[in-house]
Amino acid sequence: MDRRSFLSNMSAATVASIAGAATLSDKADALEDAMSVELDKRIATPWFCSIDPTPEPVAGDTRPWYQHDDPRLPEMPEAPTLIDFFKLRFAPANHVLQSARLAKINGMDEKVILACLLHDICVGNFIRTDHGYWCAQMIAPYVDEEIAWAIEKHQALRFFPDESVGYEYPEAYIRFFGADYKPEPYIVQAWEEAKKHRWYMTSRLITLNDLYSFEEGVVVDVDDFTDIIGRHFKQPKEGLGFDGSPVAHMWRSMIWPNNFL
Ligand SMILES: [Fe+2]
Ligand SMILES: [Fe+2]
Repeated sequence: MDRRSFLSNMSAATVASIAGAATLSDKADALEDAMSVELDKRIATPWFCSIDPTPEPVAGDTRPWYQHDDPRLPEMPEAPTLIDFFKLRFAPANHVLQSARLAKINGMDEKVILACLLHDICVGNFIRTDHGYWCAQMIAPYVDEEIAWAIEKHQALRFFPDESVGYEYPEAYIRFFGADYKPEPYIVQAWEEAKKHRWYMTSRLITLNDLYSFEEGVVVDVDDFTDIIGRHFKQPKEGLGFDGSPVAHMWRSMIWPNNFL
């Protein structure tokens, strides 16, 4: 945080606690405590379920809490579209853009390409845990049921090889979770059930086009998918977050992720 801005906006109680400390070292501790309290105060909670460090507040912004307008983020239009979210919230979104690009290169059906484009959109800005379920729920009112189903099931399918299409257990997961990692029983059960489902292959194709590392030098623009989005994503005219759908609050949470309440 900006020390100078903090010092010039200190409350009387903070000044008193620092002044009242007996030694220089105690004063330094009192200052550090006060700054840490102040940091927590500006940002009520870190990014939703994020494991990243709490972001720095903006120097000179003396509002006790951020509400609606977080100056660290670009402002969203009044009726945001999916593409607005890609540009103003999800960017750079390399993982999903590269996955969708790969699906296109591999000649996949447009539904699969859109599923690849959307399969992890909640991860960077909203929530990581159980992300397949969250992503599916976020987009369910706006896409074909098959797309939402496939995105939900990719949560489980990622962990299970399928030789019929050449899908192997991701090498990255051995690094991430250890060689002896075993998926939880609910994941195993979801996979068992998905295998018998008529849409199994749609979900499997998401995992097949799921890139676990960036392709260096490949820059993909979401505008490359404007037509596919236009044909398969029912953009609400009021904007995502303002259409009164059961998931509107999820989109609003990405518009204003640091609202105090
Ligand atoms: Fe994923
Ligand atoms: Fe992914």
